[in-house]
Amino acid sequence: MPHWLIAGASRGIGLETARQLAARGARVTASVRSAAGLAALKSAAPQATPLHFDVRDEAAIRVAAAQVSDPIDVLVANAGAYGPQRQSSTDMDFEGALDLLSINTLGPLRVVQAFLPLVKRGAHPRVVLMTSRLGSMSIGGASNVAYRVSKAGLNKIAQCLADDLKAEGVIVVALSPGRVRTDMGGPNAELDVCDSVAGVIRVAESLTLVDTGRYLDYRGEDLPW
Ligand SMILES: NC(=O)c1ccc[n+]([C@@H]2O[C@H](COP(=O)([O-])OP(=O)(O)OC[C@H]3O[C@@H](n4cnc5c(N)ncnc54)[C@H](OP(=O)(O)O)[C@@H]3O)[C@@H](O)[C@H]2O)c1
Repeated sequence: MPHWLIAGASRGIGLETARQLAARGARVTASVRSAAGLAALKSAAPQATPLHFDVRDEAAIRVAAAQVSDPIDVLVANAGAYGPQRQSSTDMDFEGALDLLSINTLGPLRVVQAFLPLVKRGAHPRVVLMTSRLGSMSIGGASNVAYRVSKAGLNKIAQCLADDLKAEGVIVVALSPGRVRTDMGGPNAELDVCDSVAGVIRVAESLTLVDTGRYLDYRGEDLPW
């Protein structure tokens, strides 16, 4: 039975991923960063082993990683935020934008680096970086500039990690869940979280080394960089 690590599993896509995997008996380790998040995880996925960290806190991530001894087969770096109110190209909250880069761009890398020794010991190791279509350089639009920049940066990190880890057999992809009805996606997004997550899990399960470095959506279709 593969062992999954989900970073950011207190609500939304991460919580639903933990729930679906635990419901089918998968081994799940999942991180939260608050008592409310822990309660939500325990209720949705009682079998999951909880960890505690904020993805901006490298030391806390490393302490959490030291608590895990089993190899990790699939690491899902899901934690993410939407950023400050003011984030247009003509009016930027720079402190808020920097914080968002620390969460969305460097946060997944902190998690991957801390857990990499366990991932390398996985039987069929895969790293899924939860990105967005809004990180594509090919898709237009100028809203939410800080968020777009943070996910474009994450996409570049996915490419670099894929290159660096290919020789060791670790598969790395940037995966977009689609527009999902969560706190972040809002009530008018097109996808139910159950359907998006079912797709995310299906894609993660299907990955082989030929897929490494791809930018995919939850249906397994390529997105333009
Ligand atoms: N929903 C969409 O339409 C959509 C579209 C494209 C991409 N995505 C991406 O999918 C991922 C999940 O999104 P979602 O819709 O599920 O969002 P969400 O409902 O807002 O949930 C965000 C999750 O990330 C965690 N998180 C936020 N900041 C964190 C931090 N600094 N450290 C640790 N955990 C943190 C939250 O934990 P707390 O509860 O503790 O805050 C929560 O578990 C994100 O990376 C997002 O960018 C979502």
